[in-house]
Amino acid sequence: MTNDDSTAPTTGDALANLSREERHFDPPEELAAHANVKADAYHEAASDRLGFWARQAERISWAEPFTDVLDWSKAPFAKWFVGGRLNAAYNCVDRHVEAGRGDKVAYHWVGEPGDTRTLTYSDLKDEVCKTANALSELGVKTGDVVAIYMPMIPETVVAMLACARLGAPHTVVFGGFSADALSGRIQDCDARFVITADGGYRRGAASALKPAVDEALRSCPDVRSVLVVRRTGQDDIAWTDNRDVWWHEIVDRQSADHTPEAFDAEHPLYVMYTSGSTGKPKGILHTTGGYLVGTAYTHWAIFDLKPETDIYWCAADIGWVTGHSYIVYGPLANGTTSLMYEGTPDTPHKGRWWEIAQDYKATILYTAPTAIRTFMKWGAQIPSEWDLSSLRLLGSVGEPINPEAYIWYRKEIGGDRCPVADTWWQTETGMIMISPLPGVTSGKPGSAMKAIPGVEAQVVDDAGEPVKPGSGGYLVLTDPWPAMLRTLWGDDERYRETYWSRFPGRYFAGDGAKLDEDGDIWLLGRVDDVMNVSGHRLSTTEIESALVSHRKVAEAAVVGAADPTSGQAVAAFVILRESAGDGGQDVVNELRDHVAKEIGAIAKPKSIMVVPELPKTRSGKIMRRLLRDVAENREFGDATTLADSSVMDLIKANLSQGKGDED
Ligand code: WTA
Repeated sequence: MTNDDSTAPTTGDALANLSREERHFDPPEELAAHANVKADAYHEAASDRLGFWARQAERISWAEPFTDVLDWSKAPFAKWFVGGRLNAAYNCVDRHVEAGRGDKVAYHWVGEPGDTRTLTYSDLKDEVCKTANALSELGVKTGDVVAIYMPMIPETVVAMLACARLGAPHTVVFGGFSADALSGRIQDCDARFVITADGGYRRGAASALKPAVDEALRSCPDVRSVLVVRRTGQDDIAWTDNRDVWWHEIVDRQSADHTPEAFDAEHPLYVMYTSGSTGKPKGILHTTGGYLVGTAYTHWAIFDLKPETDIYWCAADIGWVTGHSYIVYGPLANGTTSLMYEGTPDTPHKGRWWEIAQDYKATILYTAPTAIRTFMKWGAQIPSEWDLSSLRLLGSVGEPINPEAYIWYRKEIGGDRCPVADTWWQTETGMIMISPLPGVTSGKPGSAMKAIPGVEAQVVDDAGEPVKPGSGGYLVLTDPWPAMLRTLWGDDERYRETYWSRFPGRYFAGDGAKLDEDGDIWLLGRVDDVMNVSGHRLSTTEIESALVSHRKVAEAAVVGAADPTSGQAVAAFVILRESAGDGGQDVVNELRDHVAKEIGAIAKPKSIMVVPELPKTRSGKIMRRLLRDVAENREFGDATTLADSSVMDLIKANLSQGKGDED
């Protein structure tokens, strides 16, 4: 199910629609005058990159200082801040309390039903210490992996930090993933403990989580304990004695004293699974010292963070890397006051985000283009009903932001005063890599601009040669960076092969990019079999595997088709087995549900087309380019390399008979 005919998509000149003034926006004068980072940072970092990162490492408290900034002698396996020892939870919490900032708010949390909680740094410290003590009582030891499957509640942050405090790497599995996806991840990293909740609130109702854990654990016999937060109070919750423990029954009675142990800078902090271009999700390993330095610096530099005055809101889910780096570790390391919201943006009304931003006087908002496009669809009238004048800076992440969405975001949310930082990075990079600096860069709608100070990126052609301004190619990172992934959990060879073999000595991101005439970078989307649906990474192969695991399916091909709201949408083409009959809506619904069960609702194909044949090259590779043409309602492109040139006619005939489904 691999594909060798994918090419970098072309953007067309999206800027052509914009007026001259709209093509770039200078930094606001006031912000530029007081910006954390000035233009000289680029030069400072370029002239001594490792010295630059050593200075950024002073943002972190080290129990023992490092002796070397970087050991790259076993490339591509990096060691940053060699010999340094630290505790991540101490850095995120205790040291702020010790410095007399215990009363500062760490999180203003808003539950979907309207309940709220405020946690100061002192509160957070107490909760983290109690939870670390509870986990120890349950038998969690340094090095044990703990799986976390939670809604967006403060205990999720507490759980992560309690694990970090004990040196027990966590693996947070997004609450939207299915029981099967959860058990696959638990097995892959051999997690022995799970932290979850009865459920969380989404779209105005309690949405259960514990049943998925119960189902997942049927195939994970090594899991010893499940710690369960009571959030929704659903009463029909199943309970396994000797395994399940209520959070409030064990955590609340613990002491709030806990002495943090210092771990090596390279001690594993967490594993985050993400889709690769083959079926099995990859366990991205992040370690402690470099990750904290990288996230703390970028959070401070790119959001121009002023810890004394900013109210910062990253509206991602903690289950994704954006939540790890920019809700938890980066902001807490910087002593930030953050907002956190549990639910969906349209509950109970479509102005919910703007109401929260107004009430808490948010100054910084970080979200994804797919959310912005949804708000655009709902109309500018909705945000205009709220006072958003506290906002001073906006960020975007997860997928290319089209110029129209950028301009709308800037105007309707940012009142035309807030710079927009289009931030490019990945689960693998751990930290933002390419982004404008708000006090320095004139932002261009649609461009992530340049690699930040201390990071080196290039756009190269097939042969690995840097392209000239005005040309497109592949994005590579030429030098190691502190928050980089260290390997794939348990699979060093796949790590080397996936990221470092296409252009030896350089990290291949899997993204196509274009350099404009000024040398600024425009991201063009994935060049491999990874789709980006609403900012979520999904693998075509993973969804194909899910489809062919259904008894009625003989063969399946999945492509990402352009979609006005979600960026891309999953479009599936399936050949049914003889015994399944000739399809129809029932089969299509059955297959969509099957994918949701195997992976999660986010992976459900938006369209499934039952076809008699799939277009293949003579060597048997599926020509996804042609399927994308079909899914996007275009005339088919060049089909001369097809083994059987009549296949596309068959698909076309099928389409005109109305057998395709789109819902
Ligand atoms: C895409 C999310 C264009 C890209 C932090 C990358 C982007 C993948 C941008 C990583 C951006 C992320 N512009 N594309 N500003 N940010 N991407 O691992 O294709 O969930 O490779 O990390 O999202 O997705 P991931």
